[in-house]
Amino acid sequence: ALEQGRRLVQQGDAARNIPACVACHGAGMTGVAPSIPGLLGLPRDYLNSQLGAWKTGQRRAHAPDCMADIARQLTPHDVSAVSAWLASQPVVAGGKPARTLPAAMPVRCGGVADVPVATAAVAR
Ligand code: HEC
Repeated sequence: ALEQGRRLVQQGDAARNIPACVACHGAGMTGVAPSIPGLLGLPRDYLNSQLGAWKTGQRRAHAPDCMADIARQLTPHDVSAVSAWLASQPVVAGGKPARTLPAAMPVRCGGVADVPVATAAVAR
């Protein structure tokens, strides 16, 4: 399950239309300032409940609600795998949100201004 979670977070699953979580949340998963939250240091139950709430429509973000679309692509097994893997990752000391992404976000998210794409350095 942990390996499946890691793969979804880092690579996504193109065949099932699931983009890699790191493509928006940053390679270091510390988020991208100012509007993409980090995914580390969050309890597994919190991650499970947020992804579940997006699936059921209890949590909503501005349209297009990219996280709702992504969460709906995840099976319950995917959700627990992703949450378990994320919650087991160490939080790097002083882990700050990135300011740029290495490539354009794979999907547009409402309420998120275009994140600048780094030309040389990989965002961390
Ligand atoms: C296309 C960009 C994008 C991708 C890909 C993406 N996310 Fe997100 N994610 C966002 C945005 C934007 C938000 C903030 C939504 C809001 O305004 O509430 C968010 C929020 C979240 C949150 C809520 C964090 C909190 O503090 O409440 C979780 C959990 C999350 N994403 C998990 C994931 C997982 C797991 C994946 C991969 C399966 C993923 N995301 C892929 C853009 C993305």
